[in-house]
Amino acid sequence: MSATALDLLSVQDLENNHQPPLYAKREIALVRGEGCYLFDSDGRRYLDAMSNYGVAILGHADEEYAAALADQLRTLATGHQSFYSDVRAELLAAIAAIAPASLTRYFLSNSGAEAIEAAIKFSRVATGRSSLVAAKRGYHGRTLGALAVTADQKYRAPFEPLTPKTTHVAFNDIDALDAVVGEDTAAILLEPIQGEGGIWPATAEYLQAAREIASSRGALLIADEIQTGFRTGAPWAISASEVTPDILVTAKALANGFPIGLTMMTEAVSAAIPAGGHGTTFGANPLAARAAIVTLRALRDRDLYANSMTIGDAIMDGLNAIASPKIRQVRGRGLMIGVELKERVTATLRSFQNEGVLILPAGPTTFRLLPPVIWQQQQVDELLHAASVVLS
Ligand SMILES: Cc1ncc(COP(=O)(O)O)c(C=O)c1O
Repeated sequence: MSATALDLLSVQDLENNHQPPLYAKREIALVRGEGCYLFDSDGRRYLDAMSNYGVAILGHADEEYAAALADQLRTLATGHQSFYSDVRAELLAAIAAIAPASLTRYFLSNSGAEAIEAAIKFSRVATGRSSLVAAKRGYHGRTLGALAVTADQKYRAPFEPLTPKTTHVAFNDIDALDAVVGEDTAAILLEPIQGEGGIWPATAEYLQAAREIASSRGALLIADEIQTGFRTGAPWAISASEVTPDILVTAKALANGFPIGLTMMTEAVSAAIPAGGHGTTFGANPLAARAAIVTLRALRDRDLYANSMTIGDAIMDGLNAIASPKIRQVRGRGLMIGVELKERVTATLRSFQNEGVLILPAGPTTFRLLPPVIWQQQQVDELLHAASVVLS
């Protein structure tokens, strides 16, 4: 049940009058979730094909997750990292169990951008260098350091000058990367599948070349798995290319909606960080730690990594089978899917919403599907039915 009983107009008025106008609002108010579905303030049900930007990986109001968080709230919610915590320790062990073997040290924070900030700072201190190389169309967040490695001028221009010197190169272009990584490059920062920029998977050759270029020139490779994590058949999308980065960053789905960020690194990177050189008040608090422990356990024990591939393949096959004059290309892996249209995407988002399905944009002409990984064939059928109505 919703904690408030405001009608839609009051909700809209209060948000419009008391927030800076930062978001293009979709006019409905979401008040409740249950499994794969969301409900608006009028009681209308929507199929959730977005997990609130890739966050609610187990869907909504999961019983086990809710019970664990309620229990933790009654036990201990907050705890600074200058004290040891049993729950934090348990989370670190759970992370170690899914981490690439050489990434043995974990910095916990509260959001994707904060996890990227840590990665940027740690790469600079570990290499003694200050510049970064990132990809065009790449998205890494909106704090100043994270914004400096984000490519899109729409996000950057109003806030320039930004701090770290960053060169943006064409994605999936090995020669372009080879040409710019130099003596002052602290790190190459890449998404294994670009999310916000339009769902563009990196090729295995590109990631392997990035690894080689970084290693041979004394730079680090940072993988941004904030959006890709936990939804492409394995914890990490980069593992499909058999590349191990020096730093791997995740957030979004890690705690199924409880704010969290994670920056994983090698012993060598960790050893370069001075004691007291970085920190956070809220990071790795017992409530966030419990949320992540339960999420990681559910992903493993309910076989949801395999499910993300089975369901993702069924969606991609179904979308490719729709005879639509509007579709240019279907791209993606697992439950991270983009459909590039031959027109702007805004009207399509609205048409899906009218059909009772919530999807996201990814750039001006692509729509994005980031469903919870608990989807079954029934949800695939509902999505494809709506897609055939909207796109045919
Ligand atoms: C790949 C990637 N990196 C970083 C971020 C920033 O994360 P947050 O919004 O939690 O700061 C996002 C958010 O969409 C993202 O998709």
